[in-house]
Amino acid sequence: MKTDVLTINPAEPEADRLTAAADVIRAGGLVAFPTETVYGLGASALDSRACGRIFAAKGRPVNNPLIVHVASVSGAQQLTDGWPETAHRLAERFWPGPLTLVLPRSKLVPDVVTAGGPTVAIRVPAHAVARGLIEAAGVPIAAPSANRSTLLSPTLAEHVLRGLDGRIELVLDGGPTAGGLESTVLDLTANPPRLLRPGLLTSHEIASVIGEIDVSDRPPAESTGPLRSPGTQTRHYAPRTPLELAVDGGWQRVVELAQQGLRVGWLKFAAERQEVAAIPRPRMEPLANLTTIVMPRAPAAYAARLYAVLHTLDNSGVDRIVVATPPEGDEWLAIRDRLLRAASK
Ligand code: TXA
Ligand code: MG
Repeated sequence: MKTDVLTINPAEPEADRLTAAADVIRAGGLVAFPTETVYGLGASALDSRACGRIFAAKGRPVNNPLIVHVASVSGAQQLTDGWPETAHRLAERFWPGPLTLVLPRSKLVPDVVTAGGPTVAIRVPAHAVARGLIEAAGVPIAAPSANRSTLLSPTLAEHVLRGLDGRIELVLDGGPTAGGLESTVLDLTANPPRLLRPGLLTSHEIASVIGEIDVSDRPPAESTGPLRSPGTQTRHYAPRTPLELAVDGGWQRVVELAQQGLRVGWLKFAAERQEVAAIPRPRMEPLANLTTIVMPRAPAAYAARLYAVLHTLDNSGVDRIVVATPPEGDEWLAIRDRLLRAASK
């Protein structure tokens, strides 16, 4: 299959391009498109066959359910059985945006989307291209991140093509995604609501609207049936290159690896008040075989560039990636979660 690429204006998407992509979705095809978090791989959520193709294209285990993207709260309500007060308040405050709500499913949702489970995960994306595509297609769009299963999520069309070229019909190239990390997944069928995957929206922000939520990271009680969250597969969001987290800044480990003759990529934190270039600049390295990337000290800015930096290092032929461990705290939770998974064997 030939994968077409259509560039599209991320702020004011051209109507003819949205229509072309919507036609592919309605015909049962797969379209990768930008959201405010990462690129998604979309299919009509009402078309079981098309959703089945998402799993095949990604190599995704069929017990890992898909997020359905809708344009509005009423679109979400059609896919759920009931709409609790917590959903009402969270949607009012955070949609459109990077919050995915897990709720009991309605009969409209095919089994393949929910992995046969009783719940469905839904969100209203904030990106103009994502919203325009859903509206033009006139159907809800099931879309996991547009990467091969367990690998890094894409924040550029180029990253999508690296994993999925020849396996999907179309990529809408709307440039880099601003958020750079996935949505927060919250299970509203649990009491208190349970954080299934930390993401761009922090648990403090959620708790400020609905009160207590369960953020404990315990494994699911049931080990069969649909996975509770992507996190139940430990290795995930990972570059192909082995990655390790260094407890200190990482310099000692970098020296050790470089002295073994390995090519090392090192993500260190910027010094206080140091400006971080939008595009990492080549620099004089203190060691041969070392590529240093200076990362921002602010969590949102760090998240926005993390996957792009890891994609770049993955492609540059380094043998090892060493990452200075980010600080503790709610704002760093999602970043630490992704790095821990990337580092796990
Ligand atoms: O930011 C995002 O969420 C991106 C963009 C494209 O929207 N999507 C994304 O999808 O990250 P994905 O499939 O890579 O991760 C979503 C995770 C799934 O891995 C799945 O485990 C969890 O959400 N999920 C989906 N449906 C669920 C359900 N019914 N119950 C519990 N978890 C669910
Ligand atoms: Mg994913």
